[in-house]
Amino acid sequence: MAKLLVRDLAQAVSPAGEGAPLRGSAAAELEVVENAYVLCDEGRIAAVGRMADLGRIDGDVEELDGRGRAAVPGLVDCHTHACFAGDRAGEFDLRAGGATYEELHAAGGGILATVRATRAAGADGLADALDRHRAWMLAAGTTTFEAKSGYGLDHDTELAQLRAVRDAGGVPTWLGGHAVPPEFPDADSYLDFALAEVLPEAAKLAEAADVFVERGAFDADQARRYLEAARAAGLTLRLHADQFTEAGGVPLAIELRARSVDHLEATGSDGVQALAGSDVAAVLLPVAAVFLGRPMPAGQDLLEAGGVVVIATDFNPGSAFCERLPIAMTLACTQAGLPPAAALVAATVNAAHVLGRADHIGRIAPGHAADLLLVDAPDWRHLVYHFGGEVVAAVVKDGTVASPR
Ligand code: NIG
Ligand code: FE
Repeated sequence: MAKLLVRDLAQAVSPAGEGAPLRGSAAAELEVVENAYVLCDEGRIAAVGRMADLGRIDGDVEELDGRGRAAVPGLVDCHTHACFAGDRAGEFDLRAGGATYEELHAAGGGILATVRATRAAGADGLADALDRHRAWMLAAGTTTFEAKSGYGLDHDTELAQLRAVRDAGGVPTWLGGHAVPPEFPDADSYLDFALAEVLPEAAKLAEAADVFVERGAFDADQARRYLEAARAAGLTLRLHADQFTEAGGVPLAIELRARSVDHLEATGSDGVQALAGSDVAAVLLPVAAVFLGRPMPAGQDLLEAGGVVVIATDFNPGSAFCERLPIAMTLACTQAGLPPAAALVAATVNAAHVLGRADHIGRIAPGHAADLLLVDAPDWRHLVYHFGGEVVAAVVKDGTVASPR
């Protein structure tokens, strides 16, 4: 593999310092090198510095022109449901006419509509769909993605989803607790099945387990049972909580020392303070809030109270049909009160922390994965300022130019 030299960059920008997660004032500190180069070798960052200090490089070197551009770490999308088949354009239309997400779900649509499409897709159809979605994410600057199961809710499809994510280079999360499929009379009997029949194999494929704690999905006691079994099987714990109501997901996440609790649109100030005082990462999903017309999570309060703040897309066909992490970052700035620097930390090193990869992903630093996003402007903040714009000039993944090809 030839070396890759990204040269003449207006800026190379990275979360400051070492270690993760970043919280408090450190969560909004960036290191900015002006007139910079980044040298990649064997898929890793070999050096970053000022062009004036660039010495001779031995061996074959491919060059990427960074003039007028700013490099930031490749983005890390730590919460997606990208492994799905079908779409819910019809439901989008109904919602625009006044139907609510929860009503559609209760009537057997919503998540369960995507379950039907995903079960019918077969392993090849699922891999093709994920491939397409992964290419979208990559073009928008995401070089590391997590994706959940949860659209199978049966033995074969849940495992097929996890395999598809793994094979696509993603980080698989078992969302066995997403909804109760129609063949079970209630949540408890579905969980009996999922924990006995699916968890043992899911635990070999997935890195984490996730559960949707909400009225109409799983209550806190059911979620505790699911998560304790998942932890005993070696999985990291994550929760979807407080999307519509405070149903006990946040205290449960803190009690179980989960890695993250995600959504938080309905979290009140007590929950915000408790979460900020814990080591559980708060994953904000601002696109889902906007897409469903929900309140924004309290990003600024979480940040100011010292919480671990993370941003993800929640990319899925129902509540957030948007694969572009820069859009989520802009919304976090404009609607949830995060400064741009905190949004960058939240979508790089802190998101890598949620995925257990912050030791080598999420910074432009020697030894880290050579994953870069080149912003098509000399000031990196255009990544969040140019709302929904064509801001991604190039994406480097593992030291190779991955987009545009
Ligand atoms: O994070 N709320 C639960 N799960 C997803 C949505 C999945 C879907 O609607 O298909 C979410 O918003
Ligand atoms: Fe989600």
